[in-house]
Amino acid sequence: MDRPEWAPPGIDVERPSAARLYDYFLGGSHNFAADRAMAQQLLATAPDIPLIAQANRAFLRRAVHMLAESGIRQFLDIGSGIPTLGNVHEVAREVAPDARVVYVDLDPVAVAHSSVLIRGQEGIAAIQGDVRKPGDILHHETVRELIDFTEPVALLVIALLQFVRDEDDPAGIMAQLRGALPSGSYLAISHGVVDGWRHDKEMVKSLYSRTTTPAASRTRAEVVPFFGDFELVDPGLVWVTQWRPDQPSNIDGIKAAKSAVVAGVGRKP
Ligand SMILES: C[S@@+](CC[C@H](N)C(=O)[O-])C[C@H]1O[C@@H](n2cnc3c(N)ncnc32)[C@H](O)[C@@H]1O
Repeated sequence: MDRPEWAPPGIDVERPSAARLYDYFLGGSHNFAADRAMAQQLLATAPDIPLIAQANRAFLRRAVHMLAESGIRQFLDIGSGIPTLGNVHEVAREVAPDARVVYVDLDPVAVAHSSVLIRGQEGIAAIQGDVRKPGDILHHETVRELIDFTEPVALLVIALLQFVRDEDDPAGIMAQLRGALPSGSYLAISHGVVDGWRHDKEMVKSLYSRTTTPAASRTRAEVVPFFGDFELVDPGLVWVTQWRPDQPSNIDGIKAAKSAVVAGVGRKP
C-alpha cells in the first residue's frame, strides 16, 4: 500500500484511524489509502457522516469562542484531531491573543500536523497522549508548563469519548480529569450517540472495530454523567446543531436529531 512521505515513522498505514477518517470526512488530505477505503464503506452505510463531522466542528468553534469570551485563557484539548479550519488556538486567540492551548491526541499523524501548524507560536503545544491514561496527560511536563491548574481551565473532550469503551472506564477517566480542574473551569463534551442514529449501527461499529480506536455505543442519558457535578450552561446537553447556533447553516445543514451527536458545556462550581 502507498506510504506518503509525510507518514510519521513506525505508523501502520494499513490500519485506519478515527483521526484520519474524520480528516477525510472534513475534506482533509492527511489520510492514507486504507482510511479512504474504510471511509467509503462508512459513507455507503451512513452518507450523513461528513455533515455530522462539520456540525461537530462548528460546535467546537462556538464553544471555544464562548469560553474565551467568558474569560478562559487556557485550553486542554484532548482528542484534538488533525488540524482543520478553525482550530482551538485560532478561535480562542481571536478573542484573547494570550490564550494558551495544549492539543493532545493518540494519533501520531494528528500530533505531527498539529506540531507543524503551531510551530514557533508561544503558548501552544501539541503532545501525544492517551485519554485512557489521564494521569500521564495531567502530569506531562508540557501540560504543566502551559496550563496553570490554579486558574480556570477549559477541558475539551470533543467527539472523543465515543472511542473510549466501557471497559476502559470512561467514568473514572472523566472523574480524574474533572478533579484536576479548579472551580470556575469548564468542560465541553460532544459525543456520538445511538439515539438519533438512523443508519446501520452494527455496521458502523464493526467498521470502527478495525481502526486503532474501536467505537463505543452510548445514549444521551449515558453521556450526562461525564459532566459529574459540573453545571451545564444553557441550553444543556442537546443535539450538536442546537447548542447556541450562531448562523442558519448551523441548523440547516442537518436535521438536529439526525446529527446523532450531543453536545454540552459544564462549569465547575
Ligand atoms: C472524531 S475525532 C475528533 C477531533 C476533534 N476533537 C474534533 O471534534 O474536531 C476523534 C479524535 O480522538 C482521538 N482519540 C481516539 N482515542 C483516543 C485516546 N484514547 N486518547 C487520545 N485521543 C484519542 C482520535 O485520534 C481523533 O483524533
